[in-house]
Amino acid sequence: MTAASSKPWWRERRDALLAYFGTRDAAYVYDLATVRAQVASFAVLRSLSQVLYALKANPHPEILRTVHAAGCGFECVSRAEVERVLAEVPGAGRERLLFTPNFAPRAEYVWALERGLRVTVDNPSILREWPAVFAGHEIFLRLDASDGHGHHEKVRTGGLHSKFGVPPGEFADLPGAVAAAGARVVGLHAHGGSGNFDLAGWLGPARILAVEAARHPGVRILNLGGGIGVPEGTGESPVDLHALEAALAGVKASNPALELWMEPGRYFVAQAGVLLGRVTQTKGKGDRRYVGIATGMNSLIRPALYGARHEIVNLTRIDEPATQTCTVVGPICESGDELGRDRRLPRCVEGDVLLIADTGAYGHAMSSSYNLRAPAPELVMPE
Ligand code: LLP
Repeated sequence: MTAASSKPWWRERRDALLAYFGTRDAAYVYDLATVRAQVASFAVLRSLSQVLYALKANPHPEILRTVHAAGCGFECVSRAEVERVLAEVPGAGRERLLFTPNFAPRAEYVWALERGLRVTVDNPSILREWPAVFAGHEIFLRLDASDGHGHHEKVRTGGLHSKFGVPPGEFADLPGAVAAAGARVVGLHAHGGSGNFDLAGWLGPARILAVEAARHPGVRILNLGGGIGVPEGTGESPVDLHALEAALAGVKASNPALELWMEPGRYFVAQAGVLLGRVTQTKGKGDRRYVGIATGMNSLIRPALYGARHEIVNLTRIDEPATQTCTVVGPICESGDELGRDRRLPRCVEGDVLLIADTGAYGHAMSSSYNLRAPAPELVMPE
């Protein structure tokens, strides 16, 4: 489902999608209109001064150009992500990029700061140990401002046991460390995790950042991170952006001199992408019925890694009744190579095309060539 319509794009365009897929075995297919609709829905958040797209979710060049044309800047976490944006998005100025590395080598900070990029520092030790790197530069500081949130323990980036952010016990030391390094803090940042549906996940940190801003007179920006959840068909309601805006407006009213930024990844692209895979074989074993498709956890690792649930349909037989309970698997040599368990599907036959929905975020971006099986290639749906 996109913000603009209640029917997913791939149902409305099913015939065109099957024709475009043609005789392939597997492919990711992206619908740019859905990306545009999702970015447009963010316009409700009028209290935000900047929206950065977190391209780790999906760095496909056409997606980058689409979100840029819709007004977004970019949040990058590696030198290669920065270079991807600069190479693929004409007119993406460095002032609309934010570089947020974590435990990256010193050379990446040097490289970015020498090019005038804005860099987020999330470890006070590097200010102390590499002062020459930061001297004379404007930086952001990432604070560990919550216990974290998210759809799975592995994607919680806040709290004592996550590796991100300056720990609260060191907040008071930051002005001294920044001054000793000869840097200036212009922004504070917090990102507590991914796949969050609870407004408190942004508001709690926003209040903490606003309080901490008082220690850093140069701070103009509070970056509240990303993490906006997309329902996985397990009963969550989508995040109410109007309610989020009302809350952000409250933060803004108490801190009129500060800009508020956010940096979503998943929310802009998850529903824009589908993974298509052709049925290879079926098998009954014990009380299970397996349907195999031509690609597996090498293309989509989210079910294996997080137990993530993605809707699966037989696109070839979209109108046939679901009569079987199936476990959809790929060709990878691990028993974890499951794309969906106990799914109701019509009887599947070799050559049918199965569709795995809402895979535009952290799908291809996290793929691998495990077993030397190339991951599904990426296609953009013709408009
Ligand atoms: N900002 C920072 C600093 C981040 O670390 C992330 C995500 C984002 C923004 C964007 O978060 P989003 O809006 O996409 O939730 N592979 C996992 C998600 C990992 C997210 C990592 N950081 C998954 O497939 O669910």
